Amino acid sequence: MSTEIDKAVEFVRERVGAQKRLGVVLGSGLGGLADVLQDPITIPYEQIPGFPLSGVASHAGAVIAGHLKGAPLILLAGRSHYYEHGNARAMAVPIETLKALGVETLILTNAAGSLRKDVPPGSASLITDHINFSGVNPLIGTQGNERFVDLSDAYDPALCERIRAAAKTSGAELHEGVYVWFSGPSFETPAEIRAVRVLGGDLVGMSTVPEVILARYAGLRVSAVSLITNYAAGMEAEELSHAMTMKVAAEGAENMMKLFTTLIADLHANPL
Ligand code: HPA
Repeated sequence: MSTEIDKAVEFVRERVGAQKRLGVVLGSGLGGLADVLQDPITIPYEQIPGFPLSGVASHAGAVIAGHLKGAPLILLAGRSHYYEHGNARAMAVPIETLKALGVETLILTNAAGSLRKDVPPGSASLITDHINFSGVNPLIGTQGNERFVDLSDAYDPALCERIRAAAKTSGAELHEGVYVWFSGPSFETPAEIRAVRVLGGDLVGMSTVPEVILARYAGLRVSAVSLITNYAAGMEAEELSHAMTMKVAAEGAENMMKLFTTLIADLHANPL
C-alpha cells in the first residue's frame, strides 16, 4: 500500500474505527442520507491526507460514518470529478481507504440525463453496465497484472437484484439501463446523444465510471444508482443547466431516500 493511502487510512481509522460497513458515494440527490445517520462522525475531505478537494458547490466533500436503522455505514459525501482537473484517479485514495477500513460493498449514486422517454426526470435508474465514452481510464499508469480488471460483472448482479427488490418493497420508481460516461463539464450535443443511443446507452453522466473501475480494481463489490434529472440534450426544448439538474435532483431525492433506506436495512439484515 502506498504511504499516501496509509496516512489517509490511519487518519480516518483514528476517528471512526475499522469496521465492516456498507460504503455509499453520495452524488446529487442523495445528500439527505447523511442527515438521517445516527451518531454521525464527519471528517471533511480537506483534513484527510491525499483526499481530493471537491470544487463543485453542490458536492461538499466529507467522510461521514454512522448508522441507519442499526446498519453501519460510511459515506463519501461528495466526489471529485474528472472535469474539475483532468485527473481520472482523483477518487482513488478515498476508495482505497474505504477498502482498507473494512468496506466490502460500495454503492455509488449520481445525477444523470435520460436517453429514454419512458425514464422521466425525478425517477431513479439502476446502472446495469456502462460505456466509457471519455477515452480515459483511472488505471492508466498503474503497474502489474491486476490493472487488467475484468469488468464483465462490474455492477454486481446479486447486489442489483437486491436493489430491484428494495425498489419493489419501498414503492420507489426504479428503472435500469446502461450509463454512458462523458467527461463534461459541457453537456453533450444532440448528435452525441443520438450516437450513444444507437450504441446501447440509456443514461448519460459525468461521473461514477472512474470510481467503478477503481473500486473493482480494489476488489469491492459495486453497484450504482442514478437520479434522473433531465432528458438528454436534444430531447426537450428546455435548455440544459446545472441549476436545473440540481432542482430536479432535490425533487427526486425522496424517491432515492425511500429506495436507499429500505435497501440499507435489508442488506444489514441479510448480508450478501
Ligand atoms: N449529461 C451529463 N451529465 C448529466 C446530465 C446530462 O444530461 N444530467 C445530469 N448529469
